[in-house]
Amino acid sequence: MLLYLSTWTEIEQYLKRSRTIVVPIGSNEQHGPTGLLGTDWLCPEIIAREAEKAADILVAPTFNIGMAQHHLAFPGTISLRPSTFIAAIGDWIRSLAVHGFEKILFLNGHGGNIASIEAAFSEVYAEASFAKRHAGFALKLCNWWDLPGVGELAREQFPSGHGAHATPSEIAITQWALPETIKSAEYSPQIAPSGPIREALDFRARYKDGRMGSDPNQASQEKGGALVKLAAKSLVQEVDAFSREAMPA
Ligand code: NI
Repeated sequence: MLLYLSTWTEIEQYLKRSRTIVVPIGSNEQHGPTGLLGTDWLCPEIIAREAEKAADILVAPTFNIGMAQHHLAFPGTISLRPSTFIAAIGDWIRSLAVHGFEKILFLNGHGGNIASIEAAFSEVYAEASFAKRHAGFALKLCNWWDLPGVGELAREQFPSGHGAHATPSEIAITQWALPETIKSAEYSPQIAPSGPIREALDFRARYKDGRMGSDPNQASQEKGGALVKLAAKSLVQEVDAFSREAMPA
């Protein structure tokens, strides 16, 4: 069930059978010469939508702008400062909590978002209105690549040249879902350099075409489809386990 294609009456009905919602969250940032700027929000959205086809899961609109300060030297990147991002995540959570959602799972597609999402959770938990709630209200962060089995499959598919940014696994997922957007380029070197992430101009100087440690040429629709199917299956299990989490004694 997709929240944005539902009516308020349908959401009211849904809340009678479940208090859980999945929020895909990502970033709009450069992904090398062939990766879509939307890669990091498309991947969790694609996986959540695939999971939703197979189970009674409610999927929120995708939070598609994240913390991408270090990619700002590449055109098309849009970033929220951590403070803005944390504030906005908090408002999404507060809005959903007003309606009675008690288990909010953020399915994340961008490593640079992790620290801020965790900080946003801590900010919410620290508020009196949440701190005084009955036990059971919970926020959960799942990175799609950490869903059970998914990292193992990606390592099997891409034993070398997976890297850390503009990876063949994330690009394969967008290729599977959006084949009309597949792009190609000559990569030099074939596997991009690795190193630290600092500010934007430093990033551009180190990683000239935007990739980090990756060879996106290894991506294929077939590999992307296998990743999506497995990730969707694992997400259904994660959502189910999260919904059923026993209240602390
Ligand atoms: Ni990415």
